[in-house]
Amino acid sequence: MTDTSAQLDTLLAENRRFPPTPEFSAAANAQPGIYADGEHSQAFWADQARKLDWIQPWSSVLEWQEPHAKWFVGGKLNAAANCLDRHVAGGKGGRTALIWEGEPGDQRILTYRQLADEVGKAANALRGLGVSKGDRVAIYMPLIPEAAVAMLACARIGAVHSVVFGGFSAESLRDRINDAQAVALITADGGYRRGGVVPLKQFADEALADCPSIRSVLVVRRHADGESIGSAAMQQGRDHWWHEALAGQPAGADAEPMDSEDMLFILYTSGTTGKPKGIVHTTGGYLTQAAATTRYVFDLKDEDVFWCTADIGWVTGHSYVVYGPLAIGATVVMYEGAPDWPERDRFWSLIAKHGVTVFYTAPTAIRAFMKWGTDHPARHDLSRLRLLGSVGEPINPEAWMWYREHIGGKRCPIVDTWWQTETGGIMITPLPGITATKPGSCTIPFPGITPELVDNEGNVMQKGGGFLTLTQPWPGMLRTIYGDDERYRQTYWSRFPGRYFAGDGAKLDEDGYWWVLGRVDDVLNVAGHRIGTMEVESALVDHPAVAEAAVVGKAHELKGQALSAFVTLKDGREPSDQLKLELREHVAKKIGAIARPDDVIFSADLPKTRSGKIMRRLLKDIAEGRALGDTTTLADPKVVAALKDKYEELEG
Ligand code: WTA
Repeated sequence: MTDTSAQLDTLLAENRRFPPTPEFSAAANAQPGIYADGEHSQAFWADQARKLDWIQPWSSVLEWQEPHAKWFVGGKLNAAANCLDRHVAGGKGGRTALIWEGEPGDQRILTYRQLADEVGKAANALRGLGVSKGDRVAIYMPLIPEAAVAMLACARIGAVHSVVFGGFSAESLRDRINDAQAVALITADGGYRRGGVVPLKQFADEALADCPSIRSVLVVRRHADGESIGSAAMQQGRDHWWHEALAGQPAGADAEPMDSEDMLFILYTSGTTGKPKGIVHTTGGYLTQAAATTRYVFDLKDEDVFWCTADIGWVTGHSYVVYGPLAIGATVVMYEGAPDWPERDRFWSLIAKHGVTVFYTAPTAIRAFMKWGTDHPARHDLSRLRLLGSVGEPINPEAWMWYREHIGGKRCPIVDTWWQTETGGIMITPLPGITATKPGSCTIPFPGITPELVDNEGNVMQKGGGFLTLTQPWPGMLRTIYGDDERYRQTYWSRFPGRYFAGDGAKLDEDGYWWVLGRVDDVLNVAGHRIGTMEVESALVDHPAVAEAAVVGKAHELKGQALSAFVTLKDGREPSDQLKLELREHVAKKIGAIARPDDVIFSADLPKTRSGKIMRRLLKDIAEGRALGDTTTLADPKVVAALKDKYEELEG
């Protein structure tokens, strides 16, 4: 027998290494000593927390009773005051906080003082509507400055925000509002996407028909060229225009002193069962990690202009558009629209125009840029860029090399950052002045973070492939799942006793570098966004023609994974192209366009194990064209049965 494992290993081995230049290293915020401090992780994190403004100091750094952590216990602070007031008080009120550009090209620039004033007015408006500390507020908005203002206004008064991505459907919004029992919703009449208008208020109204907890709605009027773009129907008593509600308000608003462990926000993410999980983040620990990682990973200095392309609907937008950069007084760029509108060079034109120096985006975007060709970036002056970042899914070495050459001009270090909604901030990452990078690897843990690789039985491995786990709590970790602590234990702390299991498979190489291989659970990663197969299946089964559905991810050149849906119809319903279209739209309507299946394959039967579990691996092979050339033959139950037998034989 020939040994193929050695061959496989060398095929996968990536031997290129890119150490930082001496100039970059010399000027970097993070110097090598940072790892020595990191060995005493509580001391390291306490040092980081001290860089924030505390109203009352903490009495102990960490109280840990697995799986519940409390950081900076007894301390009091306010996240919005840390992101705004302290910079204004420190003489940086005139510094640019936000450079915003709308998709049609309209622009707004807000200094720290202006942003603080807007947040103060919005905080007073929310208080005027009876929103108070601990209340949940849903935010469903396009990427406009008011989205950040809304988040910070909630933080200022101690209300818990729950941002729902503006690309999600009315039904998704409804479920998230109801799960959190939100008392208010902040939305906009609409937002721009690829030249069209997304009618957010209309979707919100659909959702609110079934959300009894909502008492008030604030609606931002999205202007472009002085014209209001939406036609929001305002409901008397419940709905208020944002500009009217803020108009008479004073800019000063008391910042609520929050306990370090008081909730800052809930953010819903996909789970392996149908119901999204409300990930709970608290104040002191989250802000500490968001600020520290922004300072050291993105190396931001006063003269930098930082652009993280994420929407505030995702955790990356929370931590690296809003809380992290504003906590350290940085200048951030925010862009409302699509990267290919009006042309495929929009990102590069924005970078050149606004002098972006540090750029953070996702592999799915990088793969699209590669496909569109090098002419687009080549037309623009990208010479002010000095550091690039990647997040959301594994970046393949080829995309990494393209990013380095065509965007970074071969001079910018790349930080590939591994983390999750649940971790709150970056966990495994190079530090750009210290770490030699390898294309495709997120390299080594951030100081104070201690991941461990384990095998199927939970034994610790020094190298090779296994499961990514964490044994020690970290400040930004989720505290629970909103309203369901048992699910929190089950989901994260039960697979390997004593360990947080992130759901990712990973490889450790001989240098101790991490290579994240992707999700090992039923959660897919489509264009950098986590989508639970169960959620899509539930949406399909909700259609009157569908009896059963199984959704799998298949490899996709741009999106990482694309969704293939195998669907069994109810008796009397016939497969047709029309129905395929209908089902795809049905999912888009129920969950949002990002979850729309790329293919719908009708099948008379779904292959199942004897215990009734759908054989997803087989379906994945079929979807990727390995098991059968022509999937239409799946309509014959005998074919499925035959395939199933073959697989069960192979799998033993
Ligand atoms: C994946 C986004 C490889 C991973 C911040 C994780 C990555 C999930 C990387 C979290 C990376 C994120 N390399 N995989 N640099 N970053 N992932 O919650 O599977 O939207 O578990 O948070 O994305 O996705 P989430």
